Amino acid sequence: MKLKNKVAVITGAGAGMGRAIALLYAKEGAKVVATDINEESVQSLTDEIIEAGGEATPVVTNVAKEEDVQKMIDIAVETYGTLDILVNNAGIMDNFVPAVELTDELWERILAVNTTGTMRAIRKALPIFLEKKSGVIINNASVGGLYGSRAGTAYTASKHAVIGLTKNIGFQYAMEGIRCNAIAPGGVNTNIGTTMNNPSKFGMERAMSGSQNNPRSGEPEEIATVALFLGSEDSSFVNGQVITADGGWTAY
Ligand SMILES: NC(=O)c1ccc[n+]([C@@H]2O[C@H](COP(=O)([O-])OP(=O)(O)OC[C@H]3O[C@@H](n4cnc5c(N)ncnc54)[C@H](O)[C@@H]3O)[C@@H](O)[C@H]2O)c1
Repeated sequence: MKLKNKVAVITGAGAGMGRAIALLYAKEGAKVVATDINEESVQSLTDEIIEAGGEATPVVTNVAKEEDVQKMIDIAVETYGTLDILVNNAGIMDNFVPAVELTDELWERILAVNTTGTMRAIRKALPIFLEKKSGVIINNASVGGLYGSRAGTAYTASKHAVIGLTKNIGFQYAMEGIRCNAIAPGGVNTNIGTTMNNPSKFGMERAMSGSQNNPRSGEPEEIATVALFLGSEDSSFVNGQVITADGGWTAY
């Protein structure tokens, strides 16, 4: 087992990649604090983990709310005594809205979940990691955080910011036994499409213009294995990096 007795907080664990990461981490021996805005989904996930003989605690968390972020880390420490791994995975799409159509409301909502939530969780976890001189942070970014047009303006900016956060934290705390890396998935078969309604025609056309080069969509489990690598000692010398998992899409 690669994560025996490690305490891992995973955001957005109720579906998609977060769920796959939670299941794999639990299988590898981690004590999983499964957090999501959707109560039913984290409850059924933790039931599944416990039934399979693993350890998990559900926490309803909206990562856009500072008090919720504080609570999820506090509950991890109260329940399992510490925190070892933080996986910032929760994220939402932006209807492919291009700059000219962008409202302040949409910009702020996307940044609040994708970027500010990630920053706040890291800020709350760091004192715990600094005290014990160890800790791992994994941010689920996107190829949209590396390239210009895989989504709308707000999502693209939010994920570029996540990658900036990743490198800043990875380097600044490298001497303190803390590692911070990001995953940049390409297209993955999840529920994220349900966070979109009435996408921008112009924005979607521009964003999708490169999709014919995408060899295939991935499965959440194919991202979970990358998160396991980054969460375990197998990646002890990997820090401040972005691992792209996109089936070769961006290699073109
Ligand atoms: N699916 C893709 O093609 C793709 C590609 C690249 C990156 N990503 C990123 O991967 C991450 C996971 O996405 P997914 O595709 O598995 O999506 P998903 O929609 O299947 O799952 C996301 C989970 O996050 C939860 N969530 C949404 N808003 C939340 C909030 N405010 N607080 C807490 N939880 C919240 C949802 O309830 C859901 O359970 C996201 O950050 C996304 O941007 C997705």
